[in-house]
Amino acid sequence: MSDAPDNASVRLLGRDRTPFLPDRLWLDGAWVSRADRPARWEEAARADVAVTTQTRGVVPSSSASMPSVVADILDACAVRPGHRVLEIGAGTGYTAALLKDRVGPHGSVASIEVDPEVAARARRNLDAAGVDVEVVCGDGFAGLKRGGPYDRVHVTCAMRHVPTAWLEQCAGGRIAMPWGPAFSTDRVVALDVADGQGVGRFGAVASFMVMRAQRSRAWDAWPEGGETRPVDLGLDWRRLDGPLGGFGEFVVGLLLPGVTHRTSGGDPEDGERVVWLERDGVYASVGFGAGVPTTATGDERLIRDYADAVAWWYDHGRPESAGFGLTVTADGERAHQRVWFGSPHGPAWEH
Ligand SMILES: C[S@@+](CC[C@H](N)C(=O)[O-])C[C@H]1O[C@@H](n2cnc3c(N)ncnc32)[C@H](O)[C@@H]1O
Repeated sequence: MSDAPDNASVRLLGRDRTPFLPDRLWLDGAWVSRADRPARWEEAARADVAVTTQTRGVVPSSSASMPSVVADILDACAVRPGHRVLEIGAGTGYTAALLKDRVGPHGSVASIEVDPEVAARARRNLDAAGVDVEVVCGDGFAGLKRGGPYDRVHVTCAMRHVPTAWLEQCAGGRIAMPWGPAFSTDRVVALDVADGQGVGRFGAVASFMVMRAQRSRAWDAWPEGGETRPVDLGLDWRRLDGPLGGFGEFVVGLLLPGVTHRTSGGDPEDGERVVWLERDGVYASVGFGAGVPTTATGDERLIRDYADAVAWWYDHGRPESAGFGLTVTADGERAHQRVWFGSPHGPAWEH
């Protein structure tokens, strides 16, 4: 048995991500340089964690994803030798290299990156590693018509809206991506495309940076709460809290198209937690906890919709995300998105 320290990227993906990482990583809220703190840098590079490689202010804007999650999306994508693959979000260039490993000499990989600096670095990293991948700087939402048709589209930024362009450029193929409702983080979904429609069931948890133009600005400035009033939603505080922060958050989000949220306050066991809701610039909040009355501010409709979604989740036995799937149909620039429960013919919500 080897006593070399574990390197998660080698073990899980068959290629070391270290050569693709910049000399400075953003770890625990500060930059760590490889020259000054080599042990800490190496530890993060080898671990099964996502590492931020670029920030805007203190907000992460590019990263190398967590190796185990990279493995989940690659598995879902089912890339085979000879495939033509389009990647969205080159980042460090690492997953583009993994895709090239899988398609082999008779396949091809093109990767689109929206940030010019990041694209240039991905290109340098891939050249240095001797990997033949075309890196294009541009908006991945439009896909890359000139290299198509593709067998696979492999997406490494989280999607809220799937473009019709991908369905057209990958007709008859598969699109694998992290997808989430506006309310929550993402799940991996692989859409099998046929006749202008992609269909797939939600899989593993994946928390990714949302595609740049699709990031919500709703919470850049905190809204005025307005007058607080007591409210009876027919659910006790434990139920109102139940889906938040757990697997139910994704599912409740599927039932609340276009709704975003934040929470504030502490542990509702010994204080009050507040869930803040937003839809189309309209806000509301619900406060609850052990021994405190449930109160609300803002839009009544939004509050009732949240309570109805939570009640639905409990009434259906708290289903997990694998019980749901996504059908995406070509329709203008943004494809039409329908989330379903059970089967594509089951109850559905338009996103
Ligand atoms: C999680 S990182 C990608 C990780 C990368 N695959 C790797 O191996 O390092 C997500 C990337 O998507 C890029 N991105 C965001 N929006 C995009 C868009 N509209 N088109 C193309 N790339 C985009 C970001 O700049 C970021 O570099």
